[in-house]
Amino acid sequence: DERTLVLVKPDGVQRGLIGEVVSRIERKGLRLVSLELKTVDRSLAEQHYAEHEGKGFYEELLSFITSAPVAAMVVEGPRAVAAFRQIAGGTDPVEKAVPGSIRGDLALETGSNIVHGSDSPESAEREIKLWFG
Ligand code: GTP
Ligand code: MG
Repeated sequence: DERTLVLVKPDGVQRGLIGEVVSRIERKGLRLVSLELKTVDRSLAEQHYAEHEGKGFYEELLSFITSAPVAAMVVEGPRAVAAFRQIAGGTDPVEKAVPGSIRGDLALETGSNIVHGSDSPESAEREIKLWFG
């Protein structure tokens, strides 16, 4: 089976949505194999978001992810990467995420869209190593 890295970002943790996210992962049939609350330092944030360096929202992204604890988890199952991206919904919670998805149901702004999910199996392995060693 495939693995993916899921984060409940600071907005999701502060709004008390860790359980909601875990519940949707479990109802989909995916398995939770690790779960840890972490405070993110600048170095971890830079490595996690390396692909976005230089973009207009990069500094905002780093300050947001380092602003408060996140819940990091490793999620496993058949096609886990795509399956979680489906239940997360598109990046923009209003224009792209469909109702029924985490972002479509629970978020309003792209900069605070509750969850992160790895975008490919290769990204997933890199990110799991980065977050869980
Ligand atoms: P992640 O699962 O969080 O990686 O989201 P994604 O793969 O759907 O989006 P992407 O990797 O392109 O962007 C990473 C994160 O940066 C997004 O989840 C958003 O929170 C944020 N982001 C992306 N585009 C924008 C933007 O145009 N403006 C702002 N403020 N934030 C953005
Ligand atoms: Mg991404």
